[in-house]
Amino acid sequence: MGILEGKRILVTGVLTDASIAFSVARLAQEEGATVVLTGFGRLSLVERIAKRLPSPAPVLELDVRNTEHLDTLAARVGEHVDGLDGVVHSIGFAPQSAMGGNFLNTSWDDVATALQVSTYSFKSLAVACLPLMKEGGAVVGLDFDASKAWPVYDWMGVAKAGLESCNRYLARDLGKQNIRVNLVAAGPLRTMAARSIPGFKEFEDSWPEKAPLGWDLSDTVPAARACVALMSDWFPATTGEIVHVDGGVHAIGG
Ligand SMILES: NC(=O)c1ccc[n+]([C@@H]2O[C@H](COP(=O)([O-])OP(=O)(O)OC[C@H]3O[C@@H](n4cnc5c(N)ncnc54)[C@H](O)[C@@H]3O)[C@@H](O)[C@H]2O)c1
Repeated sequence: MGILEGKRILVTGVLTDASIAFSVARLAQEEGATVVLTGFGRLSLVERIAKRLPSPAPVLELDVRNTEHLDTLAARVGEHVDGLDGVVHSIGFAPQSAMGGNFLNTSWDDVATALQVSTYSFKSLAVACLPLMKEGGAVVGLDFDASKAWPVYDWMGVAKAGLESCNRYLARDLGKQNIRVNLVAAGPLRTMAARSIPGFKEFEDSWPEKAPLGWDLSDTVPAARACVALMSDWFPATTGEIVHVDGGVHAIGG
């Protein structure tokens, strides 16, 4: 029996089969879950990628900046499952000008976009799913350690710092409904989102060397496993937490 046997899970953020969300969806199905996906923009691409999962999974459209998409999400998900036990937020975006060393010159409009899509949407998604989580459940988001200033990450780093705070406030407000809220802080992975960061190579070069456990930039499975574990019954008293899945880099100075 898998650790998500019988659970109903909504996974956002599948774009390619390199997406962290793709690994989460695959492992969740392998562990017994029924999975519903959401996609943004290129829906036919997401539908094609979804066919590579062990079982078919419906794909619903969700742009987290679109109020109508959010307002109708629970009803649309409800056409496929009678409730949700887990929700995965695997969404991030910042305009090019917000990353890559342009920190002092990024306009508010571009910063606002980064914060709306990468930070505020964690709250929007959780609240949109509440009507389906009457028996409690788990919300998990994908983080990049925001406890320090990194090269090139810039306003996305600020957005992630906000996400870490949002995680704690959501945990505070949803605990009464027996909903746990946690983040997985993954090390750098070669996904579309990562490729869009000008200068991402700086992470690629240093991370595997720095990590006590080593680090494979192409392997999304360790981060996905942590997401699956956090949605399982094996973390019943953990909320507002950040689990680092980074080969140990966060613990090392220098
Ligand atoms: N790749 C890394 O190095 C890394 C490391 C730590 C954390 N993360 C985080 O993991 C999450 C997933 O990213 P990924 O690396 O798998 O890349 P990805 O490009 O595969 O996924 C990013 C997803 O965000 C979605 N998205 C963007 N704008 C959206 C919008 N307005 N509405 C809804 N969805 C939208 C994209 O469609 C895509 O599916 C992000 O939060 C990212 O910051 C990534």
